[in-house]
Amino acid sequence: MCGIIGYVGSGRASQIITDGLKRLEYRGYDSVGIAVRTGPGRLEVRKDKGMVEEISTALRFTSIDGNLGLGHTRWATHGAVCKENAHPHADCSGNIILAHNGVIENYSKLRDDLASKGHKFASQTDSEVIAHLIEENAKTQPLVKAFIRSIKQLEGSYAIVAMGASDTEERLFMARRNSPLVIGAGKGEMLCASDIPAMLKYTRTFIPLQEGDIAVLSRHGYKIYADDGSEATRKQITVDWDVEMAQKGGYPHFMLKEITDQKHFINESLASDVSGAWKLIDAHERVDIIAAGTSYHAGIMLSYLLQNSGKVAQAFIASDYPFIAKPDKKTLLLAISQSGETADVLQALRFGRGCKKIAITNVVGSTITTLADCVVFLNAGPEVGVAATKTFTAQLAVIYKMFYGKDKLKELSGLIETMLAHDGEIKAIAQKIAGKENAFFIARGRNVPIAYEGSLKFKEVTYIHSEAYPGGELKHGTLSLITEGVPVVALAPKDETLPKLFGNIREAKARGAFILSITDDDEVKKESDISISLPPGMDPILYPFALIVPLQLLAYHTSVLRGINPDRPRNLAKSVTVE
Ligand code: AGP
Repeated sequence: MCGIIGYVGSGRASQIITDGLKRLEYRGYDSVGIAVRTGPGRLEVRKDKGMVEEISTALRFTSIDGNLGLGHTRWATHGAVCKENAHPHADCSGNIILAHNGVIENYSKLRDDLASKGHKFASQTDSEVIAHLIEENAKTQPLVKAFIRSIKQLEGSYAIVAMGASDTEERLFMARRNSPLVIGAGKGEMLCASDIPAMLKYTRTFIPLQEGDIAVLSRHGYKIYADDGSEATRKQITVDWDVEMAQKGGYPHFMLKEITDQKHFINESLASDVSGAWKLIDAHERVDIIAAGTSYHAGIMLSYLLQNSGKVAQAFIASDYPFIAKPDKKTLLLAISQSGETADVLQALRFGRGCKKIAITNVVGSTITTLADCVVFLNAGPEVGVAATKTFTAQLAVIYKMFYGKDKLKELSGLIETMLAHDGEIKAIAQKIAGKENAFFIARGRNVPIAYEGSLKFKEVTYIHSEAYPGGELKHGTLSLITEGVPVVALAPKDETLPKLFGNIREAKARGAFILSITDDDEVKKESDISISLPPGMDPILYPFALIVPLQLLAYHTSVLRGINPDRPRNLAKSVTVE
């Protein structure tokens, strides 16, 4: 959700920034812009609504000369989607230019104050106010001090990168609070961006800023100032992701690549250390699991496994947690977030003040890692497609490792490969359902979170309305929607849930539903219009892993058949950094 990239060095800033903007696209955006310092006192700004490829070509981004610059992809919060509201934004004189992610909560008051001092605004955004605020403060003090002073006047969330046309040096000014911003340290050049993959082509060394940090970058290095204004040292991290991992590698879409990648990354996920997390779980009376979307589905699975082992545990939708829960010192907060930057999740974690916290995340250096007492990494490599696929499987893998140990899960990679081999069959099934308006996913017990996830994936990338239920719930209302030809996807492995689920399949079938089952049971296959087979004799604890892969492929192929780009479904962002 919004992306920032900044560069200072001896390279061509416009080229590096345009390249970075392309890598930030997956976060979700509606407008794009670039600013480059073309010489002392001179800035060139180009921006408009639209996609990076289209706008950067039309406005010839890379034709701008200069070694210092910043770029932005905007996801509208304040003000319509239009050229004026696209970032970067400038002050009255065009000297200060900046890009901002987040929401400035006191922008209205600041804007009124600045307007009364004669400032004129060119956009409806909260972000533009920051440029004018810096301009105002710079009237009486040097730019670094003016920047720090301005940041202190802001309320809300922000990741800000700014520069000055007439600054005495080529510098970038950065600040973050509740919105991610990372420094990338290269040789004789420095970068900054909303996430690591945007900078991977240039460096593997990163310094994630902490909440409240302010930083100044020049081509020779960086200085970080903590919340209280003192100079601070932050941990430098090296990542072993390479550029290739964050590219499509011959696949038509990231989503398909990432679904396929699961067979490799699953072993990396299983190597993750879960012992610290388990110790903390053991030491607490109650576990509150906090997550959103796909990660919430993994959270439900974790709650089932914990409850099954006798623990008091509940999975909460992160955005609702503060309204429902009353965590105390006996409560352990366990947050699951692929990105580690989901605002709802971070907010819920902060709400549990005084509680011990575990984070399960994929992103080294993400904000969630700074809030937790113990972090479990997914090791799934960068996930670029907006739809979470391999990271869901990785979440399940680390969760299952806590309960069953690594040995019980060593067949997982082979199992995923076996399920991926159904790809052709699933593509043919997608053709049968691509024209439908509704779909329902049913399961029971531990397979229910997989049905939830299958349904979310399906609606997210196909735009077909879809719902998921424990099979027993159908007769309590939803059955009225099951009519001739409506697809009902039944997760029907031969486990203890099958006898009851079979009843639900028959109920739906009797009302004319088109039954698509994923099963290893011959009777279910006979009752179904079409089936995807689970491997005969497989270990029942691995059923959730075998079920999710065909559901991901079904969503993917149906999306493509409907002419949708599954990597970037409308209205959605990969990293949801606003509440
Ligand atoms: C699912 O495909 C979505 N990308 C979305 O539901 C996502 O899982 C949710 O926004 C939470 O993201 P997180 O795991 O990064 O916190």
